[in-house]
Amino acid sequence: MLACRICDGRVEEFCDFGRQPLSDAFLGPDGRDDEYFFRLAVGVCSSCAMVQLVEEVPRTRMFHEDYPYRSSGSTRMRRHFERTAEELLAGELSQGDPFIVEIGCNDGIMLKTISRAGVRHLGVEPSGGVAQLARADGVRVTTEFFQESSALTIRKTDGAADVVYAANTVCHIPYMDSIFRGVDALLGPDGVFVFEDPYLGDVIDRTSFDQIYDEHFYLFSVTSVDAMARRFGFELVNAERLPVHGGEVRYTLARKGRRPVAREVHELLAEEERRGLATLEVLRGFAERARGIRERLVALLRELRAAGKTVAGYGATAKSATVLNYCGIGPDLLPYISDTTPTKQGRLTPGSHIPVRTPDSFADPYPDYALLFAWNHSEEIMAKEQRFRQEGGKWILYVPDVRIV
Ligand code: TYD
Repeated sequence: MLACRICDGRVEEFCDFGRQPLSDAFLGPDGRDDEYFFRLAVGVCSSCAMVQLVEEVPRTRMFHEDYPYRSSGSTRMRRHFERTAEELLAGELSQGDPFIVEIGCNDGIMLKTISRAGVRHLGVEPSGGVAQLARADGVRVTTEFFQESSALTIRKTDGAADVVYAANTVCHIPYMDSIFRGVDALLGPDGVFVFEDPYLGDVIDRTSFDQIYDEHFYLFSVTSVDAMARRFGFELVNAERLPVHGGEVRYTLARKGRRPVAREVHELLAEEERRGLATLEVLRGFAERARGIRERLVALLRELRAAGKTVAGYGATAKSATVLNYCGIGPDLLPYISDTTPTKQGRLTPGSHIPVRTPDSFADPYPDYALLFAWNHSEEIMAKEQRFRQEGGKWILYVPDVRIV
């Protein structure tokens, strides 16, 4: 029996994407690096409703000096985190001499606004390369994994925190008991633990199966986070749906009984219950739709190749690793992927070994079709790639289904 990482309940597997590489482990151009593979399958806990991977990848394999993902790679996300910081500064961080800790601050996209406002802060970021970018932006960072021991050290050196914040990080961490003990040690009596991550409800609605990869160990819902909070002595007091990264929820947790529970929490809990969000029937339906997308996407790429059309990928996202490896798409169907991240360019995609090129080569010459892997940034990308459209280029999307636009 597979046991839930949160509550030890029975986990039922509902989806299997097969043998997968690490989603952000781009290879050198000769493709000779050793690659780590694991079975990417997902289950749901029959007791606390937490959706989780059935196999865990050791954290140091994913998050290290050369971790390539930069949060600041999108203008919209820069704005989103600026606004988040401003909201925190005007609210939770407005009294006295406040202190905020961010778990997984990446390149400092959020904390740099906090730092500029002169507010005490600390980023805890295990990936050395991106942490260095944050430091260069004036952010105070410690290069390590957040866990109980690091939280205790921070508490000793900096005192209690008013806010522990994390974006697209908490769902990456299997060992939630240590995280909550750390948050408990660090937060003041009225402090809040705020985190935002991809939302199961949106993943089901959009069949965005590519949100499932090594780093996304959990796929949260309001129901499962509510249960997790209670298990660790906290209370879910607010839940706000966010339109970024294909649909997320920002959860606010407080110590039990310290804050009123917002109406939104009750509403979202009721909605999830009504739609049977964590039932095996709904989750198996999602897995079935993902299989359909795989068939239609591969058929389309084969058809285009047979017709002599050129196709390129757009955005070498972590998400694309699941799509490419699940569908068995390699350089024969997709000769290259364009990406703005310097640490991905000139390298090969994990498992599928497709070359990653600069955006300059995307326009030189434009392909007939571009397969949009960074669909969560589509507004921003469509706006900046108008010339591609004007010259006859077409986009291929696969979320919520395969279509050409
Ligand atoms: P993102 O979707 O943010 O996350 P993940 O890797 O977790 O799936 O990744 C976006 C990728 O797309 C990133 O490698 C940068 C790239 N990108 C572009 O190439 N052009 C763009 O205009 C934008 C916004 C992103």
